[in-house]
Amino acid sequence: MAVVLITGCGSGFGLLSALRFARAGEVVVAGVRDARRAEALRDAQAAEGLAVEVIELDVGEPASVEAGVARVLAEHGRIDVLVNNAGRGMSGPVEETTDADARSLFDTNLLGPLRMVRAVLPSMRARRSGVVVQVSSIAGRVSAPFAGIYSATKFALEAMSESLHYEVRPFGVRVVIVEPGSFPTGFDERRRHVGPGDGSPYGVLHRRWEEASARLPGREQTADPDAVAAAIHRAATRPDHPLRCLVGADAELIDGLRRSLDDAAFEHTVRQALDFWE
Ligand SMILES: NC(=O)c1ccc[n+]([C@@H]2O[C@H](COP(=O)([O-])OP(=O)(O)OC[C@H]3O[C@@H](n4cnc5c(N)ncnc54)[C@H](OP(=O)(O)O)[C@@H]3O)[C@@H](O)[C@H]2O)c1
Repeated sequence: MAVVLITGCGSGFGLLSALRFARAGEVVVAGVRDARRAEALRDAQAAEGLAVEVIELDVGEPASVEAGVARVLAEHGRIDVLVNNAGRGMSGPVEETTDADARSLFDTNLLGPLRMVRAVLPSMRARRSGVVVQVSSIAGRVSAPFAGIYSATKFALEAMSESLHYEVRPFGVRVVIVEPGSFPTGFDERRRHVGPGDGSPYGVLHRRWEEASARLPGREQTADPDAVAAAIHRAATRPDHPLRCLVGADAELIDGLRRSLDDAAFEHTVRQALDFWE
C-alpha cells in the first residue's frame, strides 16, 4: 500500500484522484484548504465505503504545508506519492493584471508545489523512492490570449518540474507532469477575472475571443474529469511513465498542431481559430 498525499481535494481532479487511489487500496491523505469545504469528498468516500483521511493543507501557507507534511510522515512513516494538484485559474488581458493578482496566482500555482516538494523530498530521497505528480495544463505548453498569467504559472511549473526531474531521478524519485485540456470541474467558473475593465481597449477583442473560443473543440465541456484522475494514477504507478502526459482530445489536438507547424503557421492557426485578427 502506497501512502499518497494529494493537494486541493475539495473538488475536481483532486477529489476524483483521492477516490481513485483509495479504490486501488492505497492510503490516501487528501489535503483541503478548509476542512469545512470537504463535504463533497466526505460524501463520495462514504457512499463507496472508502477510507480517505482529510487534512487541512493550504499550499499558499508555508506553516500549513510544513505541518501537513510532518503530520503525514508522523502518522504513516512515509509519503510514496505526492500529487501537486491544487491550483487556481485567472483570465484577462496581461496589461490589466496587477502585481498583486499575478503574485497571488504564482503563489498558489508555482510556489505551492515548490513548498510541497521542499517539504516532501527529504524523506523520499532518504528512502530513495517516491513519485511527484505535478498537475499542469495544456496551458503549460501553449499560451492563448487572455490566459497569459495563468499560462505563465503553468509554464513556470513545467520548467521547474523538468529541472526537478533531472535532479531527483538519481535519488530514485520520479517526476511526472500531467497536462489536462479543458474539463468541466467548475475550475473555469471559479477562475478570477481581472478584466477587461469598463472602457478597456481590450473589450471588443475579448468579446470576439469569447465567442470564437466557445466554438472550439473541448469548449462544450463534455470530457470526463475522471480521465485526469486516471492519468494521475497511471503517472504514479507506472515506473516507466514518461515525464509529460497530455490528457483530453483538445490538449492532444493543440499539442499536435504546435508540434507539426512552424511558429508562423501555428500563430496563423490560432488567430484563425480565435478570430483574432487586428
Ligand atoms: N479543469 C480544467 O479544465 C483544468 C485544465 C488544466 C489544468 N487544470 C489544473 O488542474 C488542477 C485542479 O483543478 P480542477 O479542474 O480540479 O479545479 P477545482 O475543482 O477548482 O480544484 C482546484 C482545487 O485546488 C484548491 N486550492 C486552490 N488554492 C489552494 C491552496 N492555496 N491550498 C490548497 N488548495 C487550494 C481548491 O480549493 P478551494 O475550493 O478551497 O479553493 C480546489 O479544491 C489545477 O492545478 C488546475 O490548474 C484544470
